[in-house]
Amino acid sequence: MLKPDQIPAHIGARRQSMPVNNPTTEGKSLKHPAAKAPKIFADTGTIDEIRPLLEAGIINGVTTNPTLMKRAGATSWSQAKEMMQEIVTLMAPYPVSLELTELQADKMIAQAEALAAFGSNVVIKVPVGGYEAVDPALDKNTGLKVLHALWKRDIQTNATLIFNSTQALFAAQAGASYVSPFLGRLADYMYKHDAVEMASGNALYYLEDHKGTKENSRQHNTAYVANAGSRMDAGVRLIHEITTIFANYDITTEVLAASFRNGVQIPECLLCGADILTIPAPLLMGVADHPLTNEGMKSFVEDSKAFES
Ligand code: E4P
Repeated sequence: MLKPDQIPAHIGARRQSMPVNNPTTEGKSLKHPAAKAPKIFADTGTIDEIRPLLEAGIINGVTTNPTLMKRAGATSWSQAKEMMQEIVTLMAPYPVSLELTELQADKMIAQAEALAAFGSNVVIKVPVGGYEAVDPALDKNTGLKVLHALWKRDIQTNATLIFNSTQALFAAQAGASYVSPFLGRLADYMYKHDAVEMASGNALYYLEDHKGTKENSRQHNTAYVANAGSRMDAGVRLIHEITTIFANYDITTEVLAASFRNGVQIPECLLCGADILTIPAPLLMGVADHPLTNEGMKSFVEDSKAFES
């Protein structure tokens, strides 16, 4: 497990230079105690999941994608747009990421402009790559081109489907406001395809405690990835790598850790200096739960009965 004192000074300094996320409410004399805390977003397209989290002051942003919109019940693009508009209005002024569905640069830019008109808190989510995989006729740099074109138009963007730090750097170079590394999918992949024969040094396959034998490494890495423990979790390593690179080069694109699988990954990403964590609503709804909290609460309530007249 990472210890707080292991946070490198340069990552700490970067966090200090990032914008205030929880401003003190106008007119209040007390300062908000978590003004510089990382932002927590809900990763969902379901407005009923968003409302209670917003009311509890847990979230200050939302991320959606086509899969989440489909899961939320959208069966057409016009319905998806209506649902996204509602989320944008509810969340204002907090940022809401809406993902493009077009695949050609000119159409993507037009779609981005239409979605951006939903509100000044809209962030356009652009897949960083994968275009050629969907259609070999498409330009593989479509995502970066669109990010750059939207930067020129002063439209906020979130480069999504990031799986290594080079993609993150290139997205930042193109002008992305946020990058979204998918830590959970990376850990899932490692768990399924743990290939220790791959050279270390690649973020995807880095083995921190390589013992020199294939068997040892496979066993150790797989166990850690499965438990989401320490920095040997490939996803957490990726977040750490990106925040370090961004801190070293004073890149202000925000690192939005995405694709969470469990609660352990939350403090680990915080200790790695992530700027934002976007977390599935069911995981966020459980933040106030802990077996010992439940036990303690029951005993306090039980003992308070002694005061009933
Ligand atoms: C992020 O913005 C994505 O919507 C999301 O975190 C993907 O998560 P998944 O891997 O659980 O689909």
